Parts: sequence; C-alpha cells; structure tokens
Amino acid sequence: MICLTLMELSIEADLQLLEQNRELIDMVELRLDMLTDPMLIHPDIVKLKFGIPSIITYRKKVDGGKYQGSETYRRTVLYKYSKSGFDYIDLEMDTSFPEIEKSALDNGTKIIRSYHNFSGVPDNLESIIRQLASGPGEIAKAAVFPQNSSEILQLFEIINKIKDIEDKIVLGMGDFGLPTRILYKKIGSILTFCSISDNSGAPGQLNPEDMINIYGVNRINKNTSIYGIIGNPVMHSKSPILHNRAYRRAKMDAVYIPFLVDNIDSFFKLALFLNISGFSVTVPYKVDILNYIDERSPELESIKSCNTVVRNDQLWKGFNTDLKGFLKPLLSLNNLSSFEKCAVIGAGGASRSVVFALKSIGKEVSIFNRSINKAKKLAEEAGCSYFPITSLDLLYNFDLIVQTTSVGMTPEDDETPLPGYKFKSGQIVYDIVYTPLKTKFLKDAEISGAITIGGMEMLKIQGIEQFEIFTKQFFPQEEQKENF
Ligand code: ATR
Repeated sequence: MICLTLMELSIEADLQLLEQNRELIDMVELRLDMLTDPMLIHPDIVKLKFGIPSIITYRKKVDGGKYQGSETYRRTVLYKYSKSGFDYIDLEMDTSFPEIEKSALDNGTKIIRSYHNFSGVPDNLESIIRQLASGPGEIAKAAVFPQNSSEILQLFEIINKIKDIEDKIVLGMGDFGLPTRILYKKIGSILTFCSISDNSGAPGQLNPEDMINIYGVNRINKNTSIYGIIGNPVMHSKSPILHNRAYRRAKMDAVYIPFLVDNIDSFFKLALFLNISGFSVTVPYKVDILNYIDERSPELESIKSCNTVVRNDQLWKGFNTDLKGFLKPLLSLNNLSSFEKCAVIGAGGASRSVVFALKSIGKEVSIFNRSINKAKKLAEEAGCSYFPITSLDLLYNFDLIVQTTSVGMTPEDDETPLPGYKFKSGQIVYDIVYTPLKTKFLKDAEISGAITIGGMEMLKIQGIEQFEIFTKQFFPQEEQKENF
C-alpha cells in the first residue's frame, strides 16, 4: 500500500491534498502534530471523509515530529482519536498508554508500534524490531537513517533476518535509504510512505506521482529485476525516468533505482545481496569502478571510463555507452569536416569518454582543466595537448568546445567553469550537463552567436544503448516525444 503522509496545518488542507492524490495512493497517515489544534476536529467526520484506510499519528519532536507539549495532552488527544475506528494508530516504542491501546483494539484499530533513529542504523536493530513486533497483533515499524553505503547494506541484511515477521514496516530515511522505500514489497513491508515534496513527512520520501509514474512501486514483487544508477550525488539523475519508462513500454518486470554511494565496495556487496542485474555509473565513479569489475568491453581498454555495468552469471562486465551518446548529437548537427580543433573542459571520468570519442573520429583535442596534473595525465594517455582552465584566450582558436565538468549543474545553475570567457560566433559549444537543460555555459555561448548542444540527447542515446546491454532487448520506441 502506498500511504500519503498528510502534513498540512489544517484538516481542510489535508483533505484537499488527499483529493488531489486519491487516484495514486491506497491510504493516508494523518499527522496530528502538524495540525494547529487536533482537539478541535471531529475524528468521526475526518474518517468518513478519508474513505480509505488511514493511520493516526501524533509524533513528538524527539521522534521527528512537531509535537512539543505535555504527554498528558497528547494522551488525551490520542484517546479521542482511538475511539473513531481508524484503521491504524501509531504509538511509539516508549509510549505506554494502556487505555488508548484498549480503546483502539475495541474499535477495530490496529496498533503500529514505531521506532525512529535519525542518526544511523543501530547494531541491535533486529532485536528492536522483534521487540516492536512482540505486542499481540501489533505491527512493527522501524524508520532509521542510514548515513552511508555500509549502513544501507546493514539495513538490508537486518531486513533479511526478520523475514519471519509478517506485519512490519521497515524503512531507511534519507537518500541512502531510498531503495527501501521503492522496494518495500520486495522486503516485506506492508506499506511505503510518500509525501508532497515541499512538506516532506520524513527525509527521503518521494511524492506519490514519482512513486507510481516513475518507479511503479506497487508493481514491484519478489521476482522484479533490479537495475539502478550509482553516483554521488545521484538524486538529480534523469536516468530512472528513461529506464523505468522503457521497462514499462517493453512490458518488463524490472525497476531502476538511484543508489547514493560513498563506498563502491559496500555497494557491490549490496548489489549481490539484492541480486542487482545491472547499473549505470555516474560522477565520480566512472574511473574507479574499473577496479571492481571482472570483465571489460574492448572500448574500456583505451577510454578507461565506464558508465555501464551488467551482471553475467557471477561476473560484472563494464561498458562505455557515453562515447556513442556524445558523438551522435554532435554529428547529426554538424558535418564531420566542420570542426577540427576541439577543446574539452575537464579531465574527469566524463571527459575521458569525450576525449576518446573525438580522437576516434580523428580530431585534434586539447584538454583544459583546473588541476593541471590530471589534464596532463589524460592528455598523455590520449595523445592531446593540455592547458590550465584559466587560459581563456587560447579557447578562441577552437572550433568546438565541450564542457564535461559538473560546474553549472543544478543547484549551481548560475555557475560556469569559464567565467568571463566570451564565446566566438560560429563556435560549436556542447555542454554534457542536462540539468538544467540550458546551462549558464550554453546561455553565454548562445549570446555570442555560437552553435549550442545540450546534454539531454547524449543522456538519451547513452541510455538507449545501456538499456540494450542490460536487457539484451531492443529499446522500445518512445510513443511520443517524451520529456524529462
Ligand atoms: P566526472 O565523472 O563527472 O567527470 P570527476 O571524475 O570527479 O567526475 O571529474 C570532475 C571534473 O570536473 C574534473 O575535471 C574537475 O576538475 P579537477 O580535476 O581540477 O578536480 C572538474 N571540476 C569540478 N569542480 C570544478 C570547478 N569548480 N571548477 C573547475 N573544474 C571543476
């Protein structure tokens, strides 16, 4: 069940939010702690107006809520709500209100016994969850906040150990925890929470539309194949939209999830644990990932930048689809002979693909980078010249300038790696960043009359090839011009 957490300041606003999302969700959680005065509301009428299963929650500040008043008042309010036959009432692990428990059970309301930890995944989480589940008929709920890749792995391992507990809700908050929210059915949680983004119920909650329209969380089951993208940051990536839509068009039982990763080793353990079938790789792991894969496709031997990893039996094989993704939009807009001298800004993993792509079509390439040593190393490998990124005057000599750093990517929309550079009219200017669609770098180029190319086409083309590597199927045609 997908549960929308209602966090508005008035019950009218909560009901309006419910109406706007009714089609997408299965149930709601009413957060009494957000309301100005929950005592003034008639619970019976609210229950009637909900018309779908609901949870009553009155969350204290220490547990991540807003309530800071006395326990006596909280107890009075919860008692009032316990008599109206809501489907569930959330009572924290350390809350002992026997009259409320009795009243709830007498009125057909199930108790969700909850535990929250905002600082990490405690080592004794398994025993905590077993304790939560020990009350007769009570549903255990544990919401913890994994702080890194090793803690999200630990959380999945604990979830695996408590398979015997039937009625439970276990979730990881924050970006590291997101996979638990999407895979809630696979891990045996009875529900997953979502909220409207500007009023998030807990860190990392998705909105109902993304839950359904991007991830299709209700369709995910024990057999669903898992794909994803690893990076840091990764939440900005549009790849989940591209891949999940394609799985749906191809009628595949598969899901593609963003994995925030701060340690590749822990991610590979998680990948084996979750039986992940393949994943995309983005900043800053395109080069480092090579140390972890078992096999390399031929293009990786020279490019040494890998954006696609697929599992064949027990072996991980890496590919690069950025090269083709980069070249296609460039060559469909420009004749091969219309540019010779190419400048590449940046010398990281993304730059490697661009540099080798341009070399593969016989172009003369120069690398401009902030750290000159990194530029030198890549230049020597690829057979190019290199310069400091501050050598703006030199850039006038180039027919094509490609921007490969993450500078200018949302939320740094006003940044450019070449502040003060005035592009030449007729210069071809390509930014591989796609959020925003038009970066400051491209806007500056446009003002000077340059020919501009944004990163969205590259994203799509590399993603299409990646889909085919992942699934060994042709990419299903887009039904219409699909936007991200
Ligand atoms: P990716 O896989 O996206 O290429 P990366 O390997 O971490 O990520 O490389 C990031 C690139 O962006 C590098 O060229 C980096 O320059 P340095 O080599 O000097 O670190 C460049 N970069 C990142 N932030 C930058 C900034 N503020 N100004 C200029 N270049 C920047």
